[in-house]
Amino acid sequence: MIVIRSLLIVFGGTGDLAHRKIYPAIYNLYVSGRLPENFALLAIGRKDKSEEAFRSEVATAIKKFSRENPSGTQEDINHIVSRFYYHRDDFTVYDGYKGLKERMIDLEGKYGTQGNRVYYLAVAPEHFGPIVENIGEIGLSEHDEGYDRVVIEKPFGKDLKSAVQLNNSITQVFKEEQIYRIDHFLGKEMLQNISVIRFANAFFEPLWNNKYIDHIQITSSETVGVESRGGYYDSAGAMRDMMQNHMLQLLMLTAMEPPISLKTHDIRDEKIKILKSIVPIASHSVNTHVVRGQYGEGKLYGNPLPGYRSEDRVSPNSQTETYMAMKVEVENTRWVGVPFYLRTGKRMPVKTTSIVIEFRPLPKILYFKEFNNLESNRLIIEIQPREGIIMRFNGKKPGTRNEIIPVELDFCQNCANGEVSPDSYEKLLLDVMAGNSTLFTRWDEVEHAWRFMDSISLGWSKHNPDFPNYAAGTWGPPDADRLLTSDGRSWFNS
Ligand code: BG6
Repeated sequence: MIVIRSLLIVFGGTGDLAHRKIYPAIYNLYVSGRLPENFALLAIGRKDKSEEAFRSEVATAIKKFSRENPSGTQEDINHIVSRFYYHRDDFTVYDGYKGLKERMIDLEGKYGTQGNRVYYLAVAPEHFGPIVENIGEIGLSEHDEGYDRVVIEKPFGKDLKSAVQLNNSITQVFKEEQIYRIDHFLGKEMLQNISVIRFANAFFEPLWNNKYIDHIQITSSETVGVESRGGYYDSAGAMRDMMQNHMLQLLMLTAMEPPISLKTHDIRDEKIKILKSIVPIASHSVNTHVVRGQYGEGKLYGNPLPGYRSEDRVSPNSQTETYMAMKVEVENTRWVGVPFYLRTGKRMPVKTTSIVIEFRPLPKILYFKEFNNLESNRLIIEIQPREGIIMRFNGKKPGTRNEIIPVELDFCQNCANGEVSPDSYEKLLLDVMAGNSTLFTRWDEVEHAWRFMDSISLGWSKHNPDFPNYAAGTWGPPDADRLLTSDGRSWFNS
């Protein structure tokens, strides 16, 4: 991959995302020798601060949030922050953009970035549209030398209508190929590995269909609550925060057909076909296919935890869901009859993201006739925090007695001491600079994901939920169990 020299312009440069994710990622790219020499970063923020104060804050954030490996030195930190610049401006007001343009041209000359610009919008969603308009108005979205790309964080809209509006305003300034809509899950090592596992192994691909697979479970659970993000989260909820984007991406990668090549558009073309094949959940069947929950008080590792409604900047009567589970049917030749159960939630007992593929049992002859309770075979793709694959199958228990037990083949790629996968932001930032948009969300993916979610929202709007309905530190509301038990199945809790 050719990583091209660039100037990275970060809107929201004093914010949480920039400090936790973007700056440590840039630092790690530098320490591991993957950052182009001709690179500079210009952070834009509304706070009044000197460049020196800004750099010192960045250095602190790098020390606090950077992953353990590769471990750089203080000298490395000093070197990278010397390429970070601060520009104070109210990015919602057009007048300041002239000064910004001058600052950018100055840095481009200093660092020889050849006019390559990446605008990173690490700001609250309501600022996406206005910032892009201002960039267009001042003439920063296109120029003769170099590229202009814009990176947009999620959530991209809050429903189909607002997403269309946002997209319309962005595409008046940037072309689709200049737009990089981030879904940071796509930058995770094991998400990229799903396609390799499926399409580079004779073991798996022939069995990857409704003839052999009984059902698939996709889980992303978190132990944290909403921390300092109550203000945002209370208007988003688990559906908009996780399900519409990260969870559907996991579904698409698990279910897509083999693409005709590994080129960006061929992969994206296959992914979107899955979204188009999902059977819409009509608002009258929402109750049988979808479960929502909100955590109340509870305990985790023996420590008492407050309920969601007592969290900072959350309404005391909030009806926002912090948990969502649903049964999804993909109606194509490969998957018809195989339910996909998706669930995500805050304040669960463990932090894990995994895909469990449960195979159909063999016919009731031989061992399946002799032993009543033989487990079905399972393939577990562990996305995080453990990254690996487990194959669970039946084997004979060593000994003179005739006993069959589940045994596991376990591959873990980050268990060895010192093995730390790059953070997804490292991969994604490199890809933007290199012009590779495979791991970003194309507009039609966003559009179809909202279309699917909107009918669920409509169903939900018809009655008020009985919240809170699960205790912090548990696996969600009892209805989520019923979603599977009514199909004769149960969740696989790691
Ligand atoms: C973000 C959500 O997109 O993903 C957060 O906004 C969530 O609410 C986070 O905590 C989970 O990401 P990760 O990488 O920690 O699993």
